[in-house]
Amino acid sequence: MNVQKFIFDKREVESIDGQTTWKSPSNIALVKYWGKIGEQIPANPSISFTLNNCHTLTTLKYKKAESLSFKVFVEGVREESFEPKIKKFLERIQKYCSFIEQYSFEIHTKNTFPHSSGIASSASGLSALALCITSIEKTLDNTMSDSFFKEKASFLARLGSGSACRSIYPELVVWGENQSFENSSDLVAIPFDGAHEVFKDFQDTILLVDKGQKVVSSTVGHNLMHNHPFSKQRFTQAHENLEQLKKALIEGDLKTFTAIVESEALTLHAMMMTSNPYFILMKPNTLNIIEEVWAYREKHNLNLTITLDAGANVHLLYPKSEEKQAMSLINNTLIEFCENKSYICDEVGSGSVEI
Ligand code: PMV
Repeated sequence: MNVQKFIFDKREVESIDGQTTWKSPSNIALVKYWGKIGEQIPANPSISFTLNNCHTLTTLKYKKAESLSFKVFVEGVREESFEPKIKKFLERIQKYCSFIEQYSFEIHTKNTFPHSSGIASSASGLSALALCITSIEKTLDNTMSDSFFKEKASFLARLGSGSACRSIYPELVVWGENQSFENSSDLVAIPFDGAHEVFKDFQDTILLVDKGQKVVSSTVGHNLMHNHPFSKQRFTQAHENLEQLKKALIEGDLKTFTAIVESEALTLHAMMMTSNPYFILMKPNTLNIIEEVWAYREKHNLNLTITLDAGANVHLLYPKSEEKQAMSLINNTLIEFCENKSYICDEVGSGSVEI
């Protein structure tokens, strides 16, 4: 795939003003993207579950203007601290959507999950904004197909935050070129719809161990993989894990699913512990939760699976059929390890939607 097809270079834009609103979800990676090259090209492929309840709702108001300008409002209040990140994003996408140079924007955004939950909002936030911008492009190019619309939105979202490119599509989504998924690409994510039905309504309860800001930003984290002593092996391993996970997803093999997903989460943290500088992003309660989950799973022969982002919170993944046991473990035991006893119930979702 070539970036050329994503360049929309219609410079003279008719004087259209308007607004567009998109709802876009967060996602949780099963095989983790950690390490990037050049302009947001992943060092290894990844696959994620798109979530349902954790999402961002963004309205983009646009007006024809002499030059590009924008303001960000979060829940109706101007939020200048978000603007440097958005500025960088708009600068990056300018060569693919030159029309943005002729607009002044108001970005009105809100998340369904609390800002201070320690859950990254970049995947849902930047995918929602990318979808809004692609909507404007569609009004300027009425030949745009629905499938290209999504590809372009995924392409733009990636330039904002790598994992955001996966939030465009429902359920299971792959990003990064690899031999097990035909049409996989480093430039855009692709949906994977061949999974066994047990994964269609998988649950994700996010146990909020630490609601603080991330200790290591993604940008710093990805950069730690340059000159990392184990990076080469890690990138090779991600390809292998993806291949094996694909098989498990198709067959509904929950034991292999658990083994790969948990190994991926711990490897992500192992990469951080062995980088220079090194970081420990888990907290004592992260480990307490993991140990309780493993003991309960063993005792009751369940398929509860833990995964982690680049932080201390634990995502507890399980099939819908095990919801009762999972909730009993959470409410009787795990809740004590969560900050202010907080957790968020989520599940596999159907992807972004225009409102
Ligand atoms: O999209 P970024 O740059 O915030 O990186 C996300 C990295 C992980 O969440 C740790 C893994 C992933 O694949 O989502």
